[in-house]
Formats: sequence, C-alpha cells, structure tokens
Amino acid sequence: MPNIVDADTIFKELKSHSISEFFRKNSQMLGYSGKVRSLTTVIHEYVTNSLDAAEEANILPDITVEIKELAESKYSVKVRDNGPGIPANIMGKVLATVLSGTKFHRYIQQRGQQGIGGSGCTLFSLITTGKSIHIKSGTGKTAYECDLTIDIKSNKPLITNKQEIDKSFKGLEIYGEFGETKYEDSDHGVYEYLRRTALSNPHASIKLVDPAGKEFNFMRSVLEMPIKANASRPHPLGIGTNDLLEYAHNSVESRKISSFLVDTFSRMSTNKVVELREMVKTVDFDKDPRQLTWDEAEKLVKAFKETKWIAPDLDSMSVIGEEQIKATIKNILNPTYMSVVERKPKVFRGGVPFVVEAGIAYGGAAGKEQKDGSSGVLIRFGNKVPLLFDGSVCAITVATSDVDWKRYGIKDFEGEPISLLVNVSSVYIPFSGVGKQAIAQEAEIIEEIKLAVMDCARGLQRYMSGERNKSIQSSKYNTIMRYVNQLSISLSEITGTKKEDIERDLKDLVGRRYKKLLEAEALAGGGTQEVEVDEAASSKSKEDSDEEE
Ligand SMILES: Nc1ncnc2c1ncn2[C@@H]1O[C@H](COP(=O)(O)OP(=O)(O)OP(=O)(O)O)[C@@H](O)[C@H]1O
Ligand SMILES: [Mg+2]
Repeated sequence: MPNIVDADTIFKELKSHSISEFFRKNSQMLGYSGKVRSLTTVIHEYVTNSLDAAEEANILPDITVEIKELAESKYSVKVRDNGPGIPANIMGKVLATVLSGTKFHRYIQQRGQQGIGGSGCTLFSLITTGKSIHIKSGTGKTAYECDLTIDIKSNKPLITNKQEIDKSFKGLEIYGEFGETKYEDSDHGVYEYLRRTALSNPHASIKLVDPAGKEFNFMRSVLEMPIKANASRPHPLGIGTNDLLEYAHNSVESRKISSFLVDTFSRMSTNKVVELREMVKTVDFDKDPRQLTWDEAEKLVKAFKETKWIAPDLDSMSVIGEEQIKATIKNILNPTYMSVVERKPKVFRGGVPFVVEAGIAYGGAAGKEQKDGSSGVLIRFGNKVPLLFDGSVCAITVATSDVDWKRYGIKDFEGEPISLLVNVSSVYIPFSGVGKQAIAQEAEIIEEIKLAVMDCARGLQRYMSGERNKSIQSSKYNTIMRYVNQLSISLSEITGTKKEDIERDLKDLVGRRYKKLLEAEALAGGGTQEVEVDEAASSKSKEDSDEEE
C-alpha cells in the first residue's frame, strides 16, 4: 500500500508568484514563440508604442528601427521615435512592470491595450540574455538615460546608471539585446511587418536598418494626423456582469446607483434609469454603487439587454480613411488598379462599435512575388496594426476565404498580383489570444468584412472585364490593320486613286472607330471612379499600341 500524503504536507509547498514570474514561464503567451516571431514581436511592441505615443502628442511620427546580429540567434534592437518621451519618475512603472500602462483603463481606440507590451520586451531580454535594456528619453524639459530591468520575484522595476543627457534629445530611444531570435526576410519578418505598418499608417515615416546594414525608408504618404479618437463611455449593451461590478466598485464620484449609471455609460439618460427602475424593482437605485452585489449587477445587465438603446457613440474610433488608404497604396504598391471601401460603423456583441475598411490593389508591386510570378496576398490589420501570425483562426481570413473570386473575374486569387487589405478598428478588438495576432470570429465582424471585400471586388471585376475587352478589341484592330496595306493597293488599281491616300484614309477610319469603341467600353464599366490606372503604366500601354499600329 502506498503511503497516503496528508493535506498539511501537500500545502506546505504553497507559494504565490508574481505576474512577471508567470510570463517568464509562459512567454509564448506574449508572442515569444519561434525565433522569427519573437524578433517581430519585439519590433511590434516598440513600434506600436511609438505610434500611439506620437499620435497622442499630436506629432507626425518618425521612427527608426535598427537591428544588428550579435551572435547566432542573438540580435540587438534599437527603436527611436520623436514622440513625447517618458518622464523619469514613471519610466520603471511603464516599461518594467507587467500590466502597467496608460491605456488599459480608457475606453478609446489605441493600438496598445493591456500594459504588457513594453515590459514584456524588458522581461524577454532579461530571460534570454540576462541583460537590462537601455533607455534614452527626452520630454522637451528634461532628458536622461538609464538601464532598466525587472525584478521578476516582485514585478518591480530596477533602474541603474541613470544620468542626465543633453536636453535637446527629444522622444524615446530603446536599445535591447534579445536571444532566441532570428532576422528573416519572410512574410513573418520585421521588414514585412514595417512595410505593412507603413501601409496602415500613411502619416508615419519609418526607417529600417537591417542586420546587413541596408536601409529601407517608408516615407509618409500624407501630412495630416489621423482623426483623433475620443475617449468615450461604454455602451450598456457592450458590458457583462463582471464589467458592471468593476465600474460600480471603482466609482469615485457617484453616490447612488442611479447617478453612477448616468455618469458611467453612454446613452444612459435619467429617463432610461426610470425605465430600468421599473424593470428591476428588487435593486435599490439609491444605494451606494460600491455596495452593488453580483446578483443585482446580473439583474441590471439582463435589463440592459431588454431595453431599447440609441446605437453607441462612434467617435471613439480612429480609422485609416479612404483617401489615406489610396495615397498609401499608391505610394507603396503603385498598382495599375485599386478600389477602397470604408464601411459604416457597426456593433458586435450588442454594443461594441467597430468599423471595417478594405482595399484591393492590382498590378505594380501588389501581390507577393514568387519565382513563377506573383500571387494574391491578404494583408490583415487590427486597429491599423499588421497581424502577421495565427492567420488561420482570424475573422479576416475566415471572411475572405468565403469570397468566390471567380464571380469577380479572378480565376485564381493565388495566381494574380493582388493585395487585399482589411483593417478592423474598434475600441475593443476581440483578439483571440494575448499575442493579439488574430481577431475572434464574431459573426457581425465577419459579415462586415465580407461586404467590404465584395464591394472592392466588384470594382476589380469591372476593371478586369474592361481590360479583357480592351485586349479583344486591340487584337481585332491589329488584324484589320494588317490588311490595310494590301487593300489599299487593290483599291488603287481599281479606282486609280493614289495608294498612299487610300491607305491614310483607311487607317484614319479604322483608328477613329477603334477609339470610339474603347470610349464606349470605358463608359460601360471600365471607367468607374475607383479605377485608377497608374500614369506610367497607361503611357506604356499607349506606346505599345502605337508600335502595333
Ligand atoms: N515610445 C513611447 N513614448 C511614450 N510613452 C510610451 C512609449 N512606449 C510606451 N509608453 C508608455 O508606456 C506604457 C506601457 O507600454 P506597454 O506597451 O507596456 O503597454 P500598452 O501599450 O499600454 O499596452 P499593450 O500591452 O497592449 O502594448 C504605455 O501605456 C505608454 O504610456
Ligand atoms: Mg504597447
């Protein structure tokens, strides 16, 4: 018989550990799995922070990323921005304390949400190299540099070698060394990540210096800042019991549940509160919101769902914008055709607003270059951040894989030079993991993506059929032109008119007819507003047809 171990012995081992300790053991949850992905994750965290910070400070972002290979599977990363910088007294809190940031508690669309990204990098550097990261920060008033790491046991920052630097240094520069990483020129690598970031952030200027010392500059395509999202209040339909309790127990100013509801939620008028009082008679609306119980909160949330509400506030979202997407596609992909669609805001889970934008680019640098030609490529974004991993479970992939491209004149999406861009914006993107690389498959989001993509595809279809007709007409034109010379000789013999005159008149006649046909085609479909044929390409095709004549 085995010895029975009693509870006292088992629980002698009981310990609790800090959140940093947890992520040290589970760094894959933060996106640190696989060497290529780990390096892209570091860049992603720093660059999204720089973009958020610059946007908040109303500064057009200039970001430089420099990567060097230090040893096998070990790279250094330097990210420098021209944003507001971070004051010295909170540096440790924001970049070396897991779950600490300025965005978590706001109901506003920003790229960062949880307060994990920056400190996650600090932690990853520590566990793969044993080193601190080095920071330089300038706020305009003061500037300093320091080394920074995390005390994993206590999830507290450790700052060393802090000293003032020249005040002219403005913005933030982070230098870190990371093991278990690899720089790779692939769809999942840093170059592609930054190229896509430039596509979805036309107001940003991004420079990459790769480990070979090669420089890539993604210049900004527009000079205006994106329209700023306003912090707004949550809609009653978008929250659950736990959320309501959290809001109620943290409420500082409201003395009664009734005023707490009006102060906390959007679309909650005093009349609505009267209505709710009628519906939930067992809840005392005059009591302190901090005394709200789970049972009462559950009843209130149930009543919220049964009440009619005005749709949620939509100015808490910041989209890329139709014109901006066109400018950036032209700048980076320079296609022969593009169409862009921005859908109207919608809600999912009853009350969380979101917007879908989609764009199709055809020709030029669109698509993915393969050995045997280009192939179609889907470029996913969540709040303007490129999503490079976990594609198969993402709502964007699922929605677009249902599109029947043949209906739109595309025989094989995989075999055409097409880039299909989809961006989902929301105050709360329902990511399906902490690594934030796939959007959960919410039915309303999938539906909106499908509609946006189909709308773009219709434009592409018109363009493609216009192109096909053009090519049929041009081959007919060339065939007729081949006979003009022979016909002119014969006609000259019969009529006695000079062959050159007949030939000139015939060419003129056929040419005019051909031009009219092309114009009619364009009016019938090929010339819709979305069609934007690149000037260089159109003059090239004109030269071709001149030669043929
Ligand atoms: N380049 C920067 N310039 C100014 N402030 C920054 C910069 N990078 C980070 N911060 C500040 O540090 C905080 C923590 O950043 P961190 O990436 O850890 O979290 P987050 O961006 O709020 O959320 P997420 O975990 O989703 O990225 C941010 O909320 C921001 O206030
Ligand atoms: Mg962040």
